[in-house]
Amino acid sequence: MKIGIGNDHSAVELKNAIKDYLTQQGYEVINYGTDSTEAFDYPLAGEAVANAINNHEVDCGICICGTGIGISIAANKVKNIRAAVCSEPVSAKLAKEHNNAQIICFGARIVGLNMAKAIVDAWLNASFQEDRHIKRLALIKDIEDRQ
Ligand code: RB5
Repeated sequence: MKIGIGNDHSAVELKNAIKDYLTQQGYEVINYGTDSTEAFDYPLAGEAVANAINNHEVDCGICICGTGIGISIAANKVKNIRAAVCSEPVSAKLAKEHNNAQIICFGARIVGLNMAKAIVDAWLNASFQEDRHIKRLALIKDIEDRQ
């Protein structure tokens, strides 16, 4: 599985740690974020990861900024993308099971490395439950299409 990862300047260290963690497990991780601690605008990384999913360069994505919020807002502006900000693994699991989120986001200023690993594990190991959730995702798509 190919995972795109994107980040701003606040999340370089956490991005590298998560990239190493996933690479050791056999995932291919493609970096769309900055490797510099110089100020970097998070919308650029959020859009790059989201576009990589829509272009089938990667299967899913991880986006990290200071809070996870700004980069998730940016990623969610890209058509067909569902990016979920999670600060703990229960929400991360449900973000896949109920929302089929292709991107998980979290904040380098909010969660530590162990929590970030738990969030990523919960999301990657969960499956979309389809059923009643298909209609709800279609309603979200309808909102997008009406804009
Ligand atoms: C950057 O200072 C910070 O605003 C950014 O990382 C993020 O938290 C925005 O949502």
